[in-house]
Order: sequence, then C-alpha cells, then structure tokens
Amino acid sequence: MMNIEKSIRERKSVRTFDGQELSKEDREKLSEFMRSIELPFDMQIEFQFLEGMNSPVVVGTNLYVGAKLKDLPFFNEAFGYAFEKFILYAQSLGIGTVWIGGTMDRASFEKAMNLKEDELMPCVSPVGYPSKKMSLRESLMRKGINADERKSFEEIVFINSFAQPLHPESANELYLPLEMVRLAPSAVNRQPWRILIDQNYVHFYLKRSKNFHGGKIDMQKIDMGIALCHFDLMCEEMGIKTEFVMKDPQLASNELEYVASYRTYC
Ligand SMILES: Cc1cc2nc3c(=O)[nH]c(=O)nc-3n(C[C@H](O)[C@H](O)[C@H](O)COP(=O)(O)O)c2cc1C
Repeated sequence: MMNIEKSIRERKSVRTFDGQELSKEDREKLSEFMRSIELPFDMQIEFQFLEGMNSPVVVGTNLYVGAKLKDLPFFNEAFGYAFEKFILYAQSLGIGTVWIGGTMDRASFEKAMNLKEDELMPCVSPVGYPSKKMSLRESLMRKGINADERKSFEEIVFINSFAQPLHPESANELYLPLEMVRLAPSAVNRQPWRILIDQNYVHFYLKRSKNFHGGKIDMQKIDMGIALCHFDLMCEEMGIKTEFVMKDPQLASNELEYVASYRTYC
C-alpha cells in the first residue's frame, strides 16, 4: 500500500538519473501497477515500457513509460488522473519520474507506442533511480520556471463564491486533500486549478494560462486530471467518501472553465 500524502510531498520531477538499470523487481512492480490502473466511464488506458528513448532534458536513463488511450471526451483529464497515479506509485518505490509532454520527439515516441489512428499518447515519463546531483541544465530549468514554488492556498481555493478565498485553518477535514492539490505538478508549473467549495461540493475549474491554448492534447486539462487525482486519492486515504460528478453549477465567470466536482461526505 502506498502512502499518498508521503508520495505527494516527496515527489519532485527527476530529469537527472544515476545510470543504473531499473531492478527486475521494481520493473515488475511497476508493470503490475500499470495493469491495475482503471479509468472512469469505461475508458481504457494502456501503459508500456519504452526502451532506448531520449528527451533533451533527461540524462542517465533511456527507459521510459508511455500510455495511450482513445480519443474520447474527457481523455486529457482521465489521462492526467491515471498517469499521476503511476507517477505517485513510482515515487513510493524510490523511482524517479518527470511528466514529459513537450520536450520530446513526439513522433518517435508515438511510433514506439504503436499508436493507432484513433489513439493518443499525451505524455511520457523516464523511469530510473535519481542521481544525487542534478545536472546544471536541470537546476537552471527548475529556477527558470520556479519549480519549487507553489501558489498559496488562498489563491486557489474559494468558498461560496470566487470572491471569498478559503483559509487553510477553515478548511477542516478537506484541508489535506486540498493541500495535496496545491502541491501537484503542472505543465510549466502554471498551477491552473481553481477550486470552489459550495456546501458539500468541491468544484474544480481551469484558469487557462495565456499562450496555453488547448489543442487536442491539452496540457492544462491534463493538469486538471492530476489535481482531481490528488484530491480523490487523499480523500480515499483519509476515509472521506466522495462521489464524482460532472455538472457545471454555473457559479463561475467566463474566465474559468468548469471541469468536474466531487460531492464529499464528511
Ligand atoms: C502535463 C505536464 C507536462 C509536462 N511537460 C514537461 C516537459 O515536456 N518537459 C519537462 O522538463 N517538464 C515537464 N513537466 C514538469 C513540470 O515542469 C514540473 O512538474 C513543474 O515545474 C513542477 O516541478 P516539480 O514536478 O518538481 O514539482 C510537465 C508537467 C506536467 C504536469
């Protein structure tokens, strides 16, 4: 059993690996976990190990994991949810990962994944053991996007209306699940998630960043899936019962895109 809070708090992107091959045991554990990941709405996702691959930002491993799924509504968010589950599990085994959606030769990864016409492979991740020392390139990159920073709780969580920020002390049982969303990784560390608590509902919205217009593969919708994953898994770990709902309550202005909600029972 993995400890979700620990995995979330300890995870950070790894782009510098130590050159050791993944042990047979770890590879088997990852394989088994990859097969166990399920998607909502009867969607299917297929994970694969990819050997001999590269990304210009990654050194010290050529082993990657990719995943593909069909082009159905909500596939970006579903992918974000499922792939983050994998990332957190790898973290619990001490295996380093980094979400890669941009810095790769997409065509060669798609070929390695045997992508069919109706399938999409939004992101991949290298897997391996983290090097003790980060490459200069990686540390500069982290500085460039403030990868160690996160927005404050009050900037992303609101109660009753978007005019009222929620303070962590007032979040009660939901504090930890919401804090886990705050700590999540996102493309270029933009943290586009905004959350509105309204009675027993926790509504998730996307505040789209400038220059981040969603194509078919939409990194910021993937970010939203990661946020849903952190919230849901933390509630589960705490024994808070939730129900996933997709019905826009029409509580937000046009600058926010409604994504989905959880009804919580706590
Ligand atoms: C959907 C998504 C796509 C990403 N794509 C890339 C990428 O192409 N290259 C890269 O170096 N990092 C990529 N990242 C990693 C982010 O830059 C990183 O998660 C963020 O800066 C926060 O740092 P942390 O993961 O160490 O907490 C991506 C992250 C997400 C969630």
